[in-house]
Amino acid sequence: MTQTLITAALPYVNSFLHLGHLAGAYLPADMYSRFLRLSGRKVLFVCGSDEHGVAITISADKEHTTPDKIIDKYHFANKLAFERFGMSFDIFSRTSLPEHAETAQEFFLDWLKKGLLVEKEENQFYDEEAQMFLPDRYVEGTCPNCGNERARGDQCDNCSANYNQTDLLNPKSVVSGKTPVVRSTKHWYFKMGDFQERLEHYIESNATQWKDNVLQQSRSWLKQGLADRAATRDMTWGIPVPIEGAKGKVIYVWFEAVLGYISATKEWANLHNSPEEWKQWWQNPDTEYIAFLGKDNIVFHTLIFPMLLMAKENYILPTNVPANEFMNFEGKKFSKSMNWGIFLHDFQRDFPGAGQTDALRYTIAMNLPETKDSDFTWQDLQARNNNELAAIFGNFVNRVVQFLHKNFDEKVPALPERFAKLTDAWKLLLEDFSREESREQAQEKYENKHLRYFSPNDVALIAAIHFGAKKAAEHYSRFRFRDAVSETMNIARAANKYFNDTAPWKTVKSDHDECAKTLYICSQTIGALSVLFAPILPNTCTTLSQMIGVQPETGEPNSELIDRWSKAAFPAIAEQTPLASPEVLFTKIEDSTIAEQVSKMGATTQTTAEIKAEPSEMITIDDFKKIKLRTALVISAERVPKSEKLLKLQVTLGNETRQILAGIAKFYTPEEMVGKTVIVVANLQPAKLMGMESQGMLLAANTPEGTLALVTPESIVGAGAEVR
Ligand code: MF3
Ligand code: ZN
Repeated sequence: MTQTLITAALPYVNSFLHLGHLAGAYLPADMYSRFLRLSGRKVLFVCGSDEHGVAITISADKEHTTPDKIIDKYHFANKLAFERFGMSFDIFSRTSLPEHAETAQEFFLDWLKKGLLVEKEENQFYDEEAQMFLPDRYVEGTCPNCGNERARGDQCDNCSANYNQTDLLNPKSVVSGKTPVVRSTKHWYFKMGDFQERLEHYIESNATQWKDNVLQQSRSWLKQGLADRAATRDMTWGIPVPIEGAKGKVIYVWFEAVLGYISATKEWANLHNSPEEWKQWWQNPDTEYIAFLGKDNIVFHTLIFPMLLMAKENYILPTNVPANEFMNFEGKKFSKSMNWGIFLHDFQRDFPGAGQTDALRYTIAMNLPETKDSDFTWQDLQARNNNELAAIFGNFVNRVVQFLHKNFDEKVPALPERFAKLTDAWKLLLEDFSREESREQAQEKYENKHLRYFSPNDVALIAAIHFGAKKAAEHYSRFRFRDAVSETMNIARAANKYFNDTAPWKTVKSDHDECAKTLYICSQTIGALSVLFAPILPNTCTTLSQMIGVQPETGEPNSELIDRWSKAAFPAIAEQTPLASPEVLFTKIEDSTIAEQVSKMGATTQTTAEIKAEPSEMITIDDFKKIKLRTALVISAERVPKSEKLLKLQVTLGNETRQILAGIAKFYTPEEMVGKTVIVVANLQPAKLMGMESQGMLLAANTPEGTLALVTPESIVGAGAEVR
């Protein structure tokens, strides 16, 4: 039996996850995994943190801490954020585990044994002040190709050129800021050229299946010709090169991180007390392997990883690499330094509900950058939530449940005598459908054929479910997630229409049997939707299942291998099943909520990066003690004529009164200020402002909205108290 191994790119633990990551790789990977599990496929979904490399050590330097603290901070934060987002990983591992070092070293030694690694002395930049070699991003300079002045040591973000770092013009060490010198150092180079032909063959043999963007990038790399690449680095953070004479050298992340997928699978197998089971995935020709990632990671998965697997032998290669483009935010690229973008944990803090998580998943899914860059906007989230999830899907469920509560004793109706054989007829109807190509054809052909049991409206709805599920499945199988989700929403639309068209509030009086049948079909439709929406809205579908008394099945790991998907259109809920009381699935998002979020974007809050001073800018506690901070009571305040910004304050420090000119007039009125206790710098040299003396300065904080908030003591303290 074929089985599917699914990986999602291992996120670097040098920053928090933002919504762009979800759109690039993680949401599609999760939807795909859930879809396959719901279709009865055996799936293993593997991910983890990428914890080595210069990206991590630079973060550690910036945050004045050590790499192991950095990786813990981001690994656990990302793991939690992923869980709350509903990622259905079988395992979320990390590359700092000893199992991974073992795996990587085993591969490395094997390459060495096979003569794939050659030792070379080469020139590298060396920072004499920091006494270290400067691998990769540790140097910045001007791109020799396009002139970009902020090019990284090995690669230019502007023109995507790859070059030898010593070709960089005007190089500067990221560590000391100094110009590095060139020193010779020994490294092991991987003979990538040996794999040129095999990789060309591999890429072309997949050409009909893979996405254009993926083929293009891979081909353009191959066209440049694969050159030998150093597989080692002079660094202490990483997996030591397991050879004598290689002290102070680690395996380069390019040749190690991707193997993390294998190590993670080993960890999973160990946790399941079946340590050899990882081989049934990675060394099994029946495994179909799908690697999800964003466009910045394509060649690592179409060329480098396959090359390493080919070299080792007996391993499977990626069957498909359905990489996405990037998702922008409100029209602009994500930028950490400009505070542009949305971090997942921030979203989760402001929108903690299960329905809100699903609304985010849905909105991202509808905007996946599948063929070109896409855009996430807050207005779109609001519109998708209010006008689609709440107004269509939620509304249908609500109407049905309310109706049953009012008219059918809070239960799925029992089928009346006249329709006693309805489920048999339903089966035959579906068999008829399965012989038809399209929903329209089927609907037309069978509208009147099953009339004894099904009205044309009934046929239309059942056709919508049957063909919708089938089409969505096709889209999922071809990695067209946006289409899959639209198709699913169309089923909910058809359900809503069905409720309108059958008008049960009329038949409840005119033809009670017909009404019972209609609501029976509606109840079954809720059951169908709870399966078909599960890849996108796992939380909502869990709630739905509980409501209709069905065991929730949302394609979580370790699901039973049952094909629920292709049976989704068939009745699954017994007559007379009690329905739990109605629950609002999606709460409306108000304009004010959206306005508040929009105003936060790009706001000039200080990012952690800005707060972190360079070592030379750090002050000692004694330096700090030179600043005398005191509490002060504002006794009078007035505007300064001709100044929009300044208020003239008289404050008392207990034993003396001072005049302070403060730039807060835009945010505080004079009346508001009187009686406040503020914090002032008491030993600031007096200064003249608009011809008046200011004898000190008061403290205020920048808010995300760009206004100022006074810093005041939390409890009552007298004027003149020391602040430290
Ligand atoms: N750490 C990389 C990123 O976050 C992804 C690496 S995928 C791996 O972009 F397979 F190479 F680990
Ligand atoms: Zn360039």
